[in-house]
Formats: sequence, structure tokens, C-alpha cells
Amino acid sequence: MHTPPNKERSPYLPFGDRQDAPFYFKDILSVKQFTRQDLDYIFAVAHEMAEMVRRVGTFDLLKGKILANLFYEPSTRTSASFTSAMERLGGSVIPINEVRYSSVSKGESLPDTVRTLERYADVIVLRHPEVGSVALAAKYTEKPIINAGDGIGEHPTQALLDLFTILEEMGKVDGLTITMLGDLKYGRTVHSLARLLTLYDVKLNYVSPDILPMPDQVVAEVREKGIPQQAYNTLDTVLPESDVLYVTRVQKERFEDLGQYEKVKSEFIITPEVMKAAKEEMILMHPLPRVGEISMDLDDDPRAAYFRQVGYGLFVRMALLAIVLGKA
Ligand code: NCD
Repeated sequence: MHTPPNKERSPYLPFGDRQDAPFYFKDILSVKQFTRQDLDYIFAVAHEMAEMVRRVGTFDLLKGKILANLFYEPSTRTSASFTSAMERLGGSVIPINEVRYSSVSKGESLPDTVRTLERYADVIVLRHPEVGSVALAAKYTEKPIINAGDGIGEHPTQALLDLFTILEEMGKVDGLTITMLGDLKYGRTVHSLARLLTLYDVKLNYVSPDILPMPDQVVAEVREKGIPQQAYNTLDTVLPESDVLYVTRVQKERFEDLGQYEKVKSEFIITPEVMKAAKEEMILMHPLPRVGEISMDLDDDPRAAYFRQVGYGLFVRMALLAIVLGKA
């Protein structure tokens, strides 16, 4: 029988860190673990990170610390932004992106892989195709582990950076109408974002192809928090009232029947013509990668926030690393 590690009294706890600080040595597994106060704290640290990056670019807050970046699914932004975040903080990274070339391809289990990496690294970032896999891995390591996407489950660090983007761009979250569009069934970013937004006074609209609705579980959790939500199969009715339009890609890799994917992949495409019906003061977001859901003709529209969103992600991930390592 495996005895779960006690992270409160971990033999790895380094001397001299701010051990009383929130999230010190804690795992980041789901957005459900955050309160609004936590978010204020994380975003305040993210602001400091933004300021430091602007002033000096790279600094030594996490000098000597090592991040293991373990990705069992493809990634560009999440993996590169954690690497950039760690290096801008003066730390270093063990990148394991090509698990095909690691012992995983020899059949090594996830628990064994993380029990190995914790001996080399101070913090582990993990992306894995199975829901719940990151929570499972966390049971086997005393080092903090950060969920970078567990299949169609959650993507908490993306939701944090999405929320930070809304706050920075719109100046507030309370009172906003947020419309999520695209593959709401398999898109983990919208699962995490919808849950996180229940901490605010928002109205949620879900627009998706009929076969890709927001999962019942997420809808139930949002309902429980008393947040108004409504599903639609067309954008027309809700676009004019939206303060945020959050577009997602149809997640081809999650389809068993590629014929189905082909049928729905182009159902919603945001073009300059479509955006004529949107408010002047609103933002168009996308976690990226986009594969045609937003026309490139929109990239110069000031409402197109998706590349600015990428930038905010760096500051939020720097904040998270500093926080879990007790240096915020
Ligand atoms: C997202 C993901 O991996 O869930 N990408 C990301 O992390 N920015 C969205 C996607 O792949 O569609």
C-alpha cells in the first residue's frame, strides 16, 4: 500500500522559505481550490512579475530552483511559458516534452516517473491525457505539482491567466456577460474557466455545436453557485450583449469518429463581418492554438486579445512558481 506523502511536513521543505504563505508547497490541481481572496493574491503577485519583467527582464527570485516540465500531450504555450517563467525567475528547467524518448515509452508508470523527477526538481508541471492523472501523480510526490491539463478535465493555470486577462483588459469581472463558444464538451480550458468565474457575479452563455455542449457536471456546479447560464446553438442572439467572447478550437484529438469532427469543425467561424454585431468595448479571447475559428483578418482589431492573453500567461505562471516555492 502506498502511503500518501505529507506535504505539510515534507522532508524536502527548504529552510528559510515563507512557509506560512498561501499555497506554499501546495499542488495546483483544480480551480476549485481557489477563493476570491486567493485570486487577489495571485494576481497581485502577477502584477509584480509584470513590473519586474518590464524593468529588468530576468531576475534571481528562484535562482537555483529546478522545474521538471513533464508533457505527455502536445503543447506550445503552456510548456514554453512555464519554461520562460522559470528562466525569467533565474531558475532552470528539465524539459520532458517528447515522452516518446523517455522511459514512459518503455512502460514506466506515472507514479514512478514523478517519484524520480522529485529527486531532481523542486516543482513539477504535468500535462497528461487522462482526467484525474495529475491528482493521482500528486499523491506520489512531496514536491508541489501543477496541473497543466489533464485530458478533458481541467486546465487551472490557463483559467487563471484567462481571468487575469479579463481583469486587465476590462478592468473588472463582476457584472460582465461572458460567452464561451466552440467545443465546450472536450475543451478543458472552458471547464476550468466556467468554474472559476463562479467566484464572480457574471452571466455565462454557452454556444456550441449540438454534439459539443458544456458537460452536465460543470453546468451543475455553476448552477449550484447561483450563476445564470444559458446554452445556445447560434451566436447571433448573444454576441451583441457579450463583454467577453471566449472562442475554443474543436478538439480533434478527442474524437473517436473523425467524420463527426469534420462535420462540426467549421460550424462557428469568427470573421470581421461577424464581429460587426459585437460591442466596441469587449474582448475576443482564445486559449490558442486556433485552427480557423477566428479569421486572421481580425488580428488587428483592438478587441482581439488572444496574443495579449499569451503575454499575461507568462506573469501568472511566474507568480504561481514563486508562490508554490515560497518566494512571493
Ligand atoms: C489549450 C489546451 O491545451 O487545453 N491550449 C493551451 O494550453 N493554451 C487549448 C487547446 O488545445 O485547444
